[in-house]
Amino acid sequence: ELAQIGVTGLAVMGSNIARNFARHGHTVALHNRSIAKTDALLAEHASEGNFVRTETIEEFISALQKPRRVLIMVKAGDPTDAVIEELAGAMEEGDIIIDGGNALYTDTIRREASLKERGLHFVGAGISGGEEGALNGPSIMPGGPAESYKALGPLLESISAQVDGTPCCTHIGPDGSGHFVKMVHNGIEYADMQLIGEAYNLFRDALDYSPAQIADVFTEWNNGDLESYLVEITAEVLKQVDAKTGQPLVDVIVDAAEQKGTGRWTVKAALDLGVPVTGIAEAVFARALSGSRAQRAAAVGLASGSLADKPADAEQFTHDISRALYASKIVAYAQGFDQIAAGSSEYDWNLHPGDLATIWRGGCIIRARFLDRIKDAYDDNAELPSLILAPYFREAIENAIDSWRRVVITAASLGIPVPAFASSLAYYDALRAERLPAALTQGQRDFFGAHTYERTDSEGKFHTLWSGDRSEVQA
Ligand code: 6PG
Repeated sequence: ELAQIGVTGLAVMGSNIARNFARHGHTVALHNRSIAKTDALLAEHASEGNFVRTETIEEFISALQKPRRVLIMVKAGDPTDAVIEELAGAMEEGDIIIDGGNALYTDTIRREASLKERGLHFVGAGISGGEEGALNGPSIMPGGPAESYKALGPLLESISAQVDGTPCCTHIGPDGSGHFVKMVHNGIEYADMQLIGEAYNLFRDALDYSPAQIADVFTEWNNGDLESYLVEITAEVLKQVDAKTGQPLVDVIVDAAEQKGTGRWTVKAALDLGVPVTGIAEAVFARALSGSRAQRAAAVGLASGSLADKPADAEQFTHDISRALYASKIVAYAQGFDQIAAGSSEYDWNLHPGDLATIWRGGCIIRARFLDRIKDAYDDNAELPSLILAPYFREAIENAIDSWRRVVITAASLGIPVPAFASSLAYYDALRAERLPAALTQGQRDFFGAHTYERTDSEGKFHTLWSGDRSEVQA
């Protein structure tokens, strides 16, 4: 029997996705550069469904129904290009190559354009959910030509997570849009993780809670509006006791966060698009700072000041932290959606923010109860200028604002770093300000470089003759 889909690259993510297809009744052709991985998968899981074992690319391609659909699950970058080249050489017009890795969206744009010239469809698909999601239902963000989705969509939707009967998979938009959206998803993931980390740090250093006590708080939060995958797993990690030392595992893990690049890409792209994704940027920089181990070791013992005001009421402060987390999380998502809107207009993708909120409700790392609220917000008003302005979120922040400020004040007083909480609050305050000091910036630019400014009361550009008689001229 010919296979409905082929998967090449059978490391954990690839194997799990292949098994997910097979478990849903699809016949799956398997290919891997070294046959050992293919055989390992078959040895353990052949009984889960119909697999076709292939060794060479030619064998792999001829095992597939037309139009052929091949999902690549290899390392982003050069390895992906190499596999695409091999596949494309063996494929025919109308066949579909899907890149399910975390590719940089500009690479996806380039690959799509070049494969289109050869009559092939190239679909850059963001896939989120980690190993577990790949096996049991990820969130899938396929870009590429809309036409390819006809042959591909039902297959992908059958293996994705489902929420209220709706698959967490939809056609995102042309060429690199799927990977762009997955990149921003990861940026939000970074921000969310950083915010959770800051909350945890406050419990430890402001309230002297143990990891086990903090785990209980997170477990409780997971029953309310903070319910989310990341909050849930935070409790699991904090509960874990190290077998070797008997200490909480979190105290044994080196506190230097690594990154594979998607968060950094999000921020780089945001800088180019001019979108202030401050929460995501703080999260990326916080990882970098944590990794500056030599500098940190040399700086231990620097003065902390004498303001140390510990919170008097632990229950109140716990509530405050939960509200600071919620409000900052709203800001992180608002910024991420702004970046998606900016990417959409830069590349003419015509993306629909409500669709993303819908497919992020299940399967992916940032899945959370509050994505239902984001979906509602965009259902009510697809043209929202900022997520923060949707009535539900506006009110949520109104209810959180005093807590949010208290958390930032307390953290600053105690010398506990909360870059994402603080910068999200500053973003909110800047966004709602009637006047910003940017007027002064413009004055300074005009002073030293004659860069001109606009006036609040008349049209056009103006310049003050700073080194002359300081009268104003129209530029
Ligand atoms: C997902 C994750 C996944 C991966 C991260 C890890 O959505 O399933 O985002 O893609 O685990 O990219 O990223 P870092 O290694 O950069 O933390």
